[in-house]
Amino acid sequence: MIRSVVMGTGSALPARRVSNAELAETVDTSDEWIVERTGIRFRHIAGEGETTATLAADACKAALAAAGIDAQSIDLIVLATATPDQTFPSSATKVQAMLGIDDCVAFDVAAVCSGFLYAVQVVDSMIRSGVAKRALVIGAETFSRILDWEDRTTCVLFGDGAGAIVLEAQDTADADGRGILTTKLHADGRHNELLYVDGGVSTTGTVGKLRMKGREVFRHAVTNLASVMTESLAMAGLGADQVDWVVPHQANARILDATARKLGLAPAKVVVTVDQHANTSAASVPLALDVAVRDGRIQQGQIVILEAMGGGFTWGAAVIRF
Ligand code: UT7
Repeated sequence: MIRSVVMGTGSALPARRVSNAELAETVDTSDEWIVERTGIRFRHIAGEGETTATLAADACKAALAAAGIDAQSIDLIVLATATPDQTFPSSATKVQAMLGIDDCVAFDVAAVCSGFLYAVQVVDSMIRSGVAKRALVIGAETFSRILDWEDRTTCVLFGDGAGAIVLEAQDTADADGRGILTTKLHADGRHNELLYVDGGVSTTGTVGKLRMKGREVFRHAVTNLASVMTESLAMAGLGADQVDWVVPHQANARILDATARKLGLAPAKVVVTVDQHANTSAASVPLALDVAVRDGRIQQGQIVILEAMGGGFTWGAAVIRF
């Protein structure tokens, strides 16, 4: 049996780091409110020349270096984003060009904050069916470019960044039990109006700005995340007590706490980067994963669960023996 094994992780952040205090100079908010209600202290904001694709390419270079794998051997690139460089071509093909890969399959996936989980399931399916052997799975966003800086209820919450992983097809006999064990995704389009962008190619012909009913999203997030984590663990035949690390979508520290509590998971097992990166949508899970791999918390062979929930609504989880 073939499994998709994580060979390396990488991430990239824009150079400019903005504190809550700096934001409060131009937005009617305060460091106290943002920290207390969200746990966010900093976010990175893309500057001139920094785009979703450039951040994604930098994250991929770091992941390939960590894996010790040459870019030319990559046969699939899937990039999750809601903020592509252009309407088309896909940002994945821009990344392909930046990495100097002559030929591979490359496309974008749009599931907003759950995009990385969606991309992981798509790539895992393509690897297990024999279509791809070595893939880059990326979450990359420049949400700062769709924020309404006059709307304090949303503009303080988001940041820019990218994270990537290299997945490789390995026979389970050789993989030592490592690899993606299960993935589970959901969508419920009845909730489109709780988290959306008020523009688009085929409606207004504009890019639009992010709009969110935060309190309602919060309520759905805790319920949906706890339930999809339980589902994906059950599919893997594992209990919550067997999880070494939870790498959640980083929207709000209170959502992370409430979800972990619901599953009876110790807070020390939850990787938290929302304080440093804010909500980077599809980039947040691979960014947090890379932080915890590089600082030595996540070790080979450990059970890691990834989870995310976002606009649509869409939500999902993946269980990996790392
Ligand atoms: O990534 C996709 C998933 N997204 C999420 O999961 C986000 C989920 N939602 C949340 O994280 C939280 O609901 C928020 C952080 C967005 C908001 O926190 P809350 O505790 O639900 O606050 P609230 O919206 O109920 O607002 C409380 C008060 C309001 O004032 P009044 O009406 O009580 O007088 C807001 O006007 O806080 C006020 N407020 C602010 N004050 C200072 C809202 N934003 C700010 C701000 N600074 N930036």
